[in-house]
Amino acid sequence: MMQGFMSDKDVVDRILGHIENKTTDRGERVWQEPVDNYISAERYESELALFRSLPTPFCPSIALSKPGDYIARPAAGVPLIVVRGQDGMVRAFKNACRHRGSELVAGRGCAGAFVCPYHGWSYGLDGSLLGVPHSDGFPAFEKAANGLAEVTVIEKNGIVFVVQQDPDEGRDQANHMLNGLPAVLKEDQILFDETEVIVEANWKIHLESFLEGYHIKAAHKTTFFPFGYDNLNVIEFCGPHARVTFPFQRIETLRDVAPEDYVVSDKLTYVTHMFPNVILAELSHHYTLGILEPLSINRTKITNYHITKSADQAGQDAALKAARRDMAFVNETGQKEDIAMVTGIQRSLHSKANDVFTFGHFEPAIVHFQQTLSKHLAEL
Ligand code: FES
Ligand SMILES: [Fe+2]
Repeated sequence: MMQGFMSDKDVVDRILGHIENKTTDRGERVWQEPVDNYISAERYESELALFRSLPTPFCPSIALSKPGDYIARPAAGVPLIVVRGQDGMVRAFKNACRHRGSELVAGRGCAGAFVCPYHGWSYGLDGSLLGVPHSDGFPAFEKAANGLAEVTVIEKNGIVFVVQQDPDEGRDQANHMLNGLPAVLKEDQILFDETEVIVEANWKIHLESFLEGYHIKAAHKTTFFPFGYDNLNVIEFCGPHARVTFPFQRIETLRDVAPEDYVVSDKLTYVTHMFPNVILAELSHHYTLGILEPLSINRTKITNYHITKSADQAGQDAALKAARRDMAFVNETGQKEDIAMVTGIQRSLHSKANDVFTFGHFEPAIVHFQQTLSKHLAEL
């Protein structure tokens, strides 16, 4: 059964217990993943097909805050336009003109309509074909039947999800798959930055770098480790998704605090993996929604949306300042260290040094990911 993650209080209590007993959450099984699954073109194509069959986060709702706001970006290799209509509803369309397939827009912006740059056909925010210049060149052409090809959208928990399959089934499946995920993104937060990072590695290798804390001491020796612990995490599952909690040492100050007064946000980092390809990180002073879009089998683009936590008593300026400082620290230190590890793995993939990668008892969120991925691919 799908249920949500634990309360902050339960997470804190579990962490304090681990600190006292020098333990951590452990998975039941060790998993061996064939290295071929990171280099097989066939496997890669099936993974992309799987992405298209599932609800995948596309952007936070606040990135499309007013009617006409749009983002054009490929999802699982398919160019999409995701746009908020005059009626407030978010819709998604394939970014392909119905005349001869030209892309209508690129990047993000705010528009009243989409006009094809090639021959000027125009479309409404609801995808309907509005105008065809010199339409007598297309006798018997039915405008009503030639709106943009629509893709299912679900807006939930402050996130816009797209499902690139049959609309009715898509919506049901999406709602089911998204039950229990944390609803932390809200309208009063500020989307204060967007960053794109290209990582020269298979998307799964990069994803796996978020899903365990076993590497904190070795890989983040002078950056994250001095504030944290060696191999100490709480790891939870929610359907195909997972959450890994990374505590900071200052969490120990909560030992003397009554549970109803716990403030946890600056004492731990929650990393939620939204299966298959998205990471929502809840850091001390901001959230990052990171979307991993495979560009090829060995190249991944991460689109990061950086969002403040709700403006606190000190007001928005203070919240923004803290969020920017937080983001700069993560981007300049931990992220670079992780990418160095990840791209190093990618370079060794073809060396035949390993037939399998072994994920041990401290990497259960990766084991869960790999098991879930295999299961979904088998059902595709
Ligand atoms: S391809 Fe768009 S108007 Fe011709
Ligand atoms: Fe890391």
